[in-house]
Order: sequence, then structure tokens, then C-alpha cells
Amino acid sequence: MQIAVVGSGYVGLVAGACLADLGHDVIVVDNDQEKLAALQGGEVPIHENFLPELLARHRGVRLRFSDDLDNAVRASSAIFIAVGTPPTEQGEADLSYVESVARGIAGAINSYKVVVEKSTVPVYTCDWVRRIILRNGGHAEHFDVASNPEFLREGTAVTDFLYPDRVVIGADSPRCAAVLREIYAPLTDGTYYLRPEAIPRPDRAQLPPPLIVTGAKSAELIKHASNAFLAMKISFINAVASICESVGADVQQVCRGIGTDSRIGPRFLNPGIGYGGSCFPKDLMAFRAVAREYGYDFRLLDEVIRINEDQRQRFIRKVRSALWTLRGKRLGVLGLAFKGGTDDIRESPAIVLIQSLLQEGCQICAYDPAAHLRAREALGGAVMLVENAYDAARGADALLILTEWEEFSSLDLKRLRAALRYPIVIDGRNLYDPELMAGHGFTYYSVGRPLVSPEPLAPAGVAPSERKSSLS
Ligand code: UDX
Ligand code: UDX
Repeated sequence: MQIAVVGSGYVGLVAGACLADLGHDVIVVDNDQEKLAALQGGEVPIHENFLPELLARHRGVRLRFSDDLDNAVRASSAIFIAVGTPPTEQGEADLSYVESVARGIAGAINSYKVVVEKSTVPVYTCDWVRRIILRNGGHAEHFDVASNPEFLREGTAVTDFLYPDRVVIGADSPRCAAVLREIYAPLTDGTYYLRPEAIPRPDRAQLPPPLIVTGAKSAELIKHASNAFLAMKISFINAVASICESVGADVQQVCRGIGTDSRIGPRFLNPGIGYGGSCFPKDLMAFRAVAREYGYDFRLLDEVIRINEDQRQRFIRKVRSALWTLRGKRLGVLGLAFKGGTDDIRESPAIVLIQSLLQEGCQICAYDPAAHLRAREALGGAVMLVENAYDAARGADALLILTEWEEFSSLDLKRLRAALRYPIVIDGRNLYDPELMAGHGFTYYSVGRPLVSPEPLAPAGVAPSERKSSLS
């Protein structure tokens, strides 16, 4: 099928490349000339696993990039809208980009088209997109508007697209649903997975994925409700972690105990420094705002957001309790991205914490495997960026772990200890076993687990490697 995807950001570019991999002919439209030139020239603008392979495979063949929305609409049976929906100051979703694209689409419709919302939008957006297209010359019989929410996590977005837990199609007419069914057929009938060149299957994937067809409004709600529920899970376990810290329990043990209940499940129960990213923070605010607009005061979401913010303050208090005063202290920082596997720093808790610590007068030397370029734009020259974890630790009063990159969980602990001025690690992502850290001579702070330190309570004359961790 001929498909247009409007917006070549994290969502649009991945969707475009994956739709091409399903066998469709895709035109990705963007109004940012610089981005287009880079994409046309073979660059891969974001760090995303398997995206380079897909772009190399399809660019110029089944995947083209253009700034000509009119032509793309005329050539396509389905037009996916994947432009940004940033929050306004009041926390609502700013839908002006969506509206302007809808207006642009209206003038170009020349035969039956399905206009698909891919961006995360509030529940009434389908109705508005339809109204805007009608107002700008579209004929009701020439188009339908559908919602097809994405559940892509940055870092694993390509496999999330191609091996989804489910495909949700929100369509209010059988004709419109049929177009979307056809687009996703290679996934839902399983034929994509038989192709030798298919992107490899991740561990947990259930094949083929179920197709869920709903009304457009329900699909819009599925997206907001899914993200709000996942964020609630994270805030819930962060609140439990705080209680664990107060009573001396271990949140990882608690997680194992509750996560094995199949009704709860073990995923998205990792405590840390709170959720960030371009979705959860903005979607929770937008969901709360839309609920309020329709007369429901969704106070549960207020609390989810409050716990998330508090989690960052708690981390700063931990740094203070480890180092006493902060002015002039040198800190090594591992991680700038909002999560592992991406170069995205939007709403990154790591960046927020670094900014607070800089304000307190700390000197920071940081390393991230992918996010230096974007972090440099956000932080300016205030932070020294280095090329590996050990350089970040060199001469530091303490090492802070702020992003859950896999490579941070398998560092050479002897080398790390030798690099640090004091062997203090404050881990905001619980990447290490406290016993192991104490065994290597570290004072180790983590989230929801007892502080371990080899020094104060260790019996005299015992080598660091033989010392048992101790609580304080
Ligand atoms: C997306 C969704 O839009 C958002 O709702 C979801 O919650 C997260 O992901 P993302 O892909 O991350 O956003 O956005 P961004 O990286 O900002 O990309 C949007 C693209 O659309 C940009 O390349 C921008 O140039 C383009 N754009 C924007 C247009 O082509 N036309 C416009 O009118 C506005
Ligand atoms: C999220 C949703 O997961 C995805 O379905 C949706 O389409 C877009 O938003 P993303 O923001 O890319 O994806 O990343 P995600 O893996 O959900 O992580 C979001 C934040 O929560 C990160 O800051 C991450 O570090 C944090 N997190 C995640 C936790 O603190 N604990 C967890 O257990 C999981």
C-alpha cells in the first residue's frame, strides 16, 4: 500500500521504516529541511536499535523523504500523523501541529483516504481532525479518521513496532478499519515473521500479535490509559522503595515477591530516580487535563506525578548524606539519556539532577554511550563530557549512576574503585548487588535498599574482599 507518514521524529521515522519493512511504499514528510537533507543523505538522526539497518534497506526504494505534503497525500491511501504534541504551560497537549497537518491534508484529498493519528493525542482529537478537514474542503465520503496508537519504547522502538504485544486500531467505519487491517496484515497473519530478512524476534514476543479493533475514541483512551498505568506502576514501586528505606527492607526482594503474581507482573517495577522521556511526563499531564475538561478530577494522576518529582529530591538528599556539603565536590556521572538504549534527553531525570547539582556548586564529569551531542545542547559547557565510565569516575568524590544503560551494569569494579577519589557510588537505577559492591570496598547507596559500606562496621583486620556488607 502507498502510505504517507507526516513527521520524521522518534515515532514517525520508526513507523515509516517499519511500514516499509512490512512491504509498503512509504513517503515520510517533514517540514524541517535540515532533517530531510540529513535523511536523504543517508544519515540516521537518532540512536535506535535496528533503525540504521532498516533505513539502509529501504531508503530510496520503498522509503522516501519529502517536504511535499500535497503530493504525498495524493499518492497515498493512508496518511499517518506523527508530528509532536508537546505540553502547553497548563499541561494540555498542544495540538497545533496536528491541526496544521490536518489542514494541509484537507486540500490534497482527491480520493478515499484514511487519516491516522499516530501521535499521542487526547480523546477528542479524531473528531477535531475530521472537523478541520471538512472545514477546509474535504468531503465526508472521501476520508475517515482513525486512531492507531503506538506503544514504542525508545531504544527498542523497531522491535516494539514489529513484535508488538497488540495492534490497536480505532476506527469508526468498516471501510476505514479494513485499510488499517491490510496495513498490519503481515504482522497479524504472521507472514512477516516467516521472512528470512525479518528483524530478529525479541525474547518475549508472542506471535502473531492480537489485533484489537475499537472505536476511535476508545483507541485514543487506550494510549493515554496505558501510559498512565505504566507510570503509576513506577511511582507505586518508588513509593514502596521509600518505605523500604525507612524500615531497612529491600525493595528488590519486595519486587520479586509481588511481580511473580501474574496479575501484577514483574515489568515496569524497577525503582529509580523516576520516569522521564517525551511521553510519560507529558501524557500524564495531558490525560489529567482532558479528564478535568470532561468533569473528572483524576487525582490519582496528581499523586503519580508528585511521587515522581519527590523521587528526584530524595536522590539529591542521598548525595548530600553521602558527601555532606556539595559546593566544590567533584562528581562522576554515568548516564544522561532519560533511559538506556537511546540518545533522547527529553525530560531526562539525569539532566534535571545534573542541573540541580550544578546549582549546588558541584563539578560534574559525565559519560553517556549515546547522548553527548544532545546533552551538550541542554547543558552547555557546564559539564565535562568524557569517553568512558572510568574517565568519568577519575578523581571524583563519588560516582552517580543516573541511566540504566546495560554497559553500566557490568563495569570493572576494581578499575572503577582505583579511579575514584573516594569509593562512593550512588546508584539511582539499582544496577548492582549491594553485597558485591561492599565486597569491592564501595560505600554503595541505591534505591529502596539498605546502604552498604565496608568501613564503619567491618571488623578490623579483614580484607575488603572478605568483608560482609553492613547496614547503616
Ligand atoms: C511523537 C509524538 O508526536 C508524540 O505525540 C508522542 O507522544 C511521542 O512521539 P516525536 O516523534 O518524539 O513525537 O516528535 P519529534 O521528534 O518532535 O518529531 C516530530 C517531527 O514532526 C519533527 O521532525 C518535525 O519537524 C515534524 N513536523 C512538525 C512536521 O513535519 N510538521 C509540523 O507541522 C510539525
Ligand atoms: C513509553 C511507553 O513505554 C511506550 O509504550 C510509549 O509508546 C511511549 O512511552 P519510553 O518513554 O520510550 O516509552 O520508555 P519507557 O521504557 O517506558 O521508560 C520511560 C521512563 O520510565 C524512563 O525514564 C525509564 O527509565 C523509567 N522506568 C521504566 C523506570 O523508572 N522504571 C521502570 O520499571 C521502567
